[in-house]
Amino acid sequence: MAPLMGKRVVIVGGSSGIGLGVASAAVKAGAQVVIVGRSMERLKAARETLAAEDRVTALAADMTQEREIARLFDAVGAFDHLVSTAGSPPPGDPIDQTDIDVVRDFIENKFVGAVLLAKHAARRLTRGGSMTFTSGINKDKPPVPGGAVVAAIAGSFSYLAHALSLELAPTRVNVVSPGWVDTPMFDALAGEAKAGYFDGMAARLPVGRIATPADIAPAYIHTMESDFTTGQTLHIDGGQSLL
Ligand SMILES: NC(=O)c1ccc[n+]([C@@H]2O[C@H](COP(=O)([O-])OP(=O)(O)OC[C@H]3O[C@@H](n4cnc5c(N)ncnc54)[C@H](OP(=O)(O)O)[C@@H]3O)[C@@H](O)[C@H]2O)c1
Repeated sequence: MAPLMGKRVVIVGGSSGIGLGVASAAVKAGAQVVIVGRSMERLKAARETLAAEDRVTALAADMTQEREIARLFDAVGAFDHLVSTAGSPPPGDPIDQTDIDVVRDFIENKFVGAVLLAKHAARRLTRGGSMTFTSGINKDKPPVPGGAVVAAIAGSFSYLAHALSLELAPTRVNVVSPGWVDTPMFDALAGEAKAGYFDGMAARLPVGRIATPADIAPAYIHTMESDFTTGQTLHIDGGQSLL
């Protein structure tokens, strides 16, 4: 294991939800953290909640814009670990009612963005460094109807990690796959129905409750610290994929 103490960690999506949970855990583990998102306002608010301003830098960049991502990693310089939790709510229409522009935007802001991050982070990562991307339960348990695109895109991250872990070795590349997590994205997706969905799922889950970002963050800490973990998808879903 290579502890995070003093390591430089870039977290794209670090201003909210799971990414903010990872930022908090990384700060607690002694890392220097760069949080990245599109909105500087959200980044500043997140930086304040992390309450370790000397070890947290906030940089605004849109992962779908190659120039912004090139500039981001120029500004960061050499670093040890990349985490991306960035993404936007998935499309959910049945396939025969799919709006293809919505699908394209989702793929751009989840998969293409991740490829751009990998492209520009690869040569900046120090030896022993890692990349960790985020997929999710929708690849194992797609919503029916309407889950085909999100299942395919979430599932693709495992294959991205397989291939990149070989191509970029010794840099390690992994994926964390959460179940449902109580975050602003879930609020945006479910609105007032969230409480009902959560009560129903909590009653079925082996662990008996819905995750918070703090429950998911240790999986990312593991992929960063474990220097023998590469090409893997870690499922951290309270047993949701078993249901
Ligand atoms: N919540 C769940 O139940 C759940 C379950 C399984 C998987 N996931 C996956 O986990 C990931 C994180 O979800 P979350 O619930 O933590 O979402 P969230 O609270 O909405 O956070 C998303 C983060 O990504 C950033 N972001 C979005 N697009 C970006 C872009 N183009 N460039 C840079 N940053 C961008 C957002 O900041 P800005 O908007 O300011 O850019 C924000 O910091 C998502 O990809 C989601 O699909 C979530």
